[in-house]
Amino acid sequence: MTMNDIVALSVGAAIGGGVAYREHRFLCRAERLSAATLESLLNAIDANDATTGAHVRRVATYALILGEAAGYDERTLRSIERISLFHDIGKLHEALTDIFHDPSTLTPEERRAVMTHPQRGAEVLAPLVAFYPDLGKGVAAHHERWDGTGYPRGLKGKRIPLAARVVSIADSFDAITHRRRYSRARSLSEATQAIADGRGKQFDPELVDLFLSQPVRSRIEEAMCRVNAAEPDTGNRRHGETQAAPDITFRWRPRARGSRSRDRRT
Ligand SMILES: [Fe+2]
Repeated sequence: MTMNDIVALSVGAAIGGGVAYREHRFLCRAERLSAATLESLLNAIDANDATTGAHVRRVATYALILGEAAGYDERTLRSIERISLFHDIGKLHEALTDIFHDPSTLTPEERRAVMTHPQRGAEVLAPLVAFYPDLGKGVAAHHERWDGTGYPRGLKGKRIPLAARVVSIADSFDAITHRRRYSRARSLSEATQAIADGRGKQFDPELVDLFLSQPVRSRIEEAMCRVNAAEPDTGNRRHGETQAAPDITFRWRPRARGSRSRDRRT
């Protein structure tokens, strides 16, 4: 090898290294931008309806416990987290806000309107489809049922996206264990019984079995205690009633050097 060859190789390596470095920086910036976009969207949910903001974070917590117990890869877990956090964004639609905040019983017409929220949510998230292709589909499917009697499409069994099946269990669990304007908070054992009753009807039977297994139940119970402790109590909170959204999750946050941001998640 001549001296010229060595110089050419060195220059080539330097240029290649520079390109790789620029690509790495570009990817880091793109990752930060996508994280910022999702956090802004979540801030918009909090600003419109703090109760929904708290609910979706709790759902994400429970759904990730179930997803981790099932051994899903990181990509699937991130998808589960995003779908959990934005599954009810369609409730913030102008046409539904009054209905969701009206304490009286729903009329049949209002009930039909409420059933549009999964599809409305998917429409809100449509611009993100190039970056998160499964987000809108998962949000649209979170009220589908294993037996095909859910909405909006009546999807059955494994035709329902996996992440939506996971979120569906976590969503129902939280709806039962947290007080809502039209129902009291019920106990952990009542909630697990309701999930068991929905096995093979509302919910994926394999996921129900996993959700009801002792290790998962213990982690869920532990998370419930942390979540409730993280919610500020203004002094007039009744059992299970949310006052503000606890900052409990975000798998998408880039890790700061030398720290483990994921450890902040409950
Ligand atoms: Fe919903």
